[in-house]
Amino acid sequence: MEWWLLACIALCLYLILILFLHYRTPETHIDWSTIELQDVHFPESFAWGVATASHQIEGRNTNNWSQFEDTKDLQRSGDACDHWNRWKTDFDLIENLGVNHYRFSLEWSRIESVEGVWDDSAIEQYSNMIDNLISRNIEPMVTLHHFSHPTWFEDKGGFANAENVDYWIRFSEKMYSELGDRVKWWCTINEPAVFTSMGYVLGEFPPGKRSFKLTRAVARNMMMAHARCYRALKSMPGGESAQIGLVKNINIFDPYRRWNLLHWFQAKLLDEMFNRCWIRGLETGKFRAPSSLLSSKIDGLKNSSDFIGVNYYTHLLTTPFMPTTVEIDPLIRPWETRTDFRYPMYAEGLHRSFHMVKSLNIPIYVTENGVADDDDDLRPEHIRRHLWLTSKAIEEGLDIRGFYHWSLMDNFEWAEGYTQRFGLYHVNYDTQERTLKESGKLYADYATGTVMPQVVILAGGLGTRLGELSKTIPKSLISVSGKPMLSHILEWAAGQGCRRAVILTGHLGEQFEGFKHEGMDLTFVQESEQMGTGGALLNAIDYLEDEFILLWGDDYHPVNYRRLYAAHKEHGQSLTMTVIQSDQLVNLRHENGNVVEYSKSEISDTFNGYEAGTSVVNKSVLVSFGKSKIWSWEETVYPQLSGKIHAHIDETPFWDMGTPERLERLEEFFDNRRS
Ligand code: GAL
Repeated sequence: MEWWLLACIALCLYLILILFLHYRTPETHIDWSTIELQDVHFPESFAWGVATASHQIEGRNTNNWSQFEDTKDLQRSGDACDHWNRWKTDFDLIENLGVNHYRFSLEWSRIESVEGVWDDSAIEQYSNMIDNLISRNIEPMVTLHHFSHPTWFEDKGGFANAENVDYWIRFSEKMYSELGDRVKWWCTINEPAVFTSMGYVLGEFPPGKRSFKLTRAVARNMMMAHARCYRALKSMPGGESAQIGLVKNINIFDPYRRWNLLHWFQAKLLDEMFNRCWIRGLETGKFRAPSSLLSSKIDGLKNSSDFIGVNYYTHLLTTPFMPTTVEIDPLIRPWETRTDFRYPMYAEGLHRSFHMVKSLNIPIYVTENGVADDDDDLRPEHIRRHLWLTSKAIEEGLDIRGFYHWSLMDNFEWAEGYTQRFGLYHVNYDTQERTLKESGKLYADYATGTVMPQVVILAGGLGTRLGELSKTIPKSLISVSGKPMLSHILEWAAGQGCRRAVILTGHLGEQFEGFKHEGMDLTFVQESEQMGTGGALLNAIDYLEDEFILLWGDDYHPVNYRRLYAAHKEHGQSLTMTVIQSDQLVNLRHENGNVVEYSKSEISDTFNGYEAGTSVVNKSVLVSFGKSKIWSWEETVYPQLSGKIHAHIDETPFWDMGTPERLERLEEFFDNRRS
């Protein structure tokens, strides 16, 4: 045959192959400018969650990771988020997001720091944490291995030795026997492919090796460990109803040049090693470890997951010369945005990940998705796109049951140390202060299905009973524990997901000049003369939205606004009032969920509650009761609307600064909270 004919045939075959690959594995790119991102629908039962891992947040762990940080002279995890000491207030943060699921991991090195010796106090703390979550209606999802384990286990060779799997199974069984009566959701191993490739191919994670032989052994042993764990827990009391699954990171690999067969080859190879072989393993029970040619059966592996956890972050563009260190930027498409981690934001890959795991025919949970974004300017869009695609996939009929945002708060990002911030809450690592980011507010809006309304603060009142202190300055501007009361109130409101506040400054409005609050859009409305609380509200009517949360500028009332607002929506009254029952003070009577009588001055024996200050108001109330001149909101509206005010019972302690003694107590409260 002539050489040119051969060349033509070869070229044609090449083209056919490329076209086949091209159409079989499309690299989807959505024109996001044409998408209505708010058009999402999630089932009632959808699990909304946030995720963390023990070593990344707890602080002061001694495990394979802390050892690796020392030997490689990496940034030390150190105190991390000091979550081991601050877990209760961190759970407040979860609750404030309105999510109802929380994924976290148990730190094996705390529980069995010495081989064979259980640390009962550590187990007890985890147990208390679980009880606490449940008491808040937050469903715990527990991960048994999230990259970290005790140093004695590592010294024995960790997962590289098949016999060592027994130790981890023993630990898992112990945990299940302690917590299984309350924890329904169990993740066996987090991202075995990341653990093996980072620890044994790239050497970026402990034990920092580069060996294909070890990689194969670790991969196989981890799959075996997962299968054994699944079977072991399932056979324990209550095991049948536990939901146990593997968490798989899906990395999408796309050829950099779609006409280049070598790029395709690389993409397919990596896809096989990183994704497919693991998923196929779960499906068939036979596992071909990355870089090995043969597959072999693993006992109990087939159908060893009740759900599949998908962790999704990005896609990688492949060439035979891809960087294997994080110092070199990965390739991206020109229109893509780089995240702080340098890889691109590629939400379309989440949808492709769902399709990759759907053959398993089990419920899918997004057990991690998030972005490293220091200034939080990309994360809101990241959340919107990924949730939009999740919603689309559900509409297409994929069985996606939940979404856990990575992460609750900024934390120790493994080899990257503290340089990558993934949190919905910003963490100041010097003070351990947490601040809700705009993206956190947005995620909470999705999780609760509501956007938080405007906050209106009656901030002009003078402290007649506070003596000299506030004859001339409004109480809300008096400094308590280092900052004005108003800042404390706004901080709480912002942490509850509110974005806008109208501040009614009374007639001393000039004193508020220059007042700002991070994360809150403030509008100040001043009165020309004294108008009373009702008059002040009416005076600001043009700035008020149809619904608003009404607060008093001298009260600090850290209640959950999302719950309050949900109650307002549910009961459909035009005013919902927070009522405390346990307070010694009374000023109202409520029955069957309604405030039926209110009086500030004539306290009756039948009174059984106290108006705590935080209420949700429909503007229509103001329109119908408003009058000219000076008038008091509470003394006019509450009595007249009695019977039609929803009483939202919430026993959260309420603080005010009405008298010097109360002010002192409030100061103490803030000071204690800080330490
Ligand atoms: C995942 C890992 C998490 C977190 C996240 C962000 O691979 O499970 O612990 O670090 O990546 O990079």
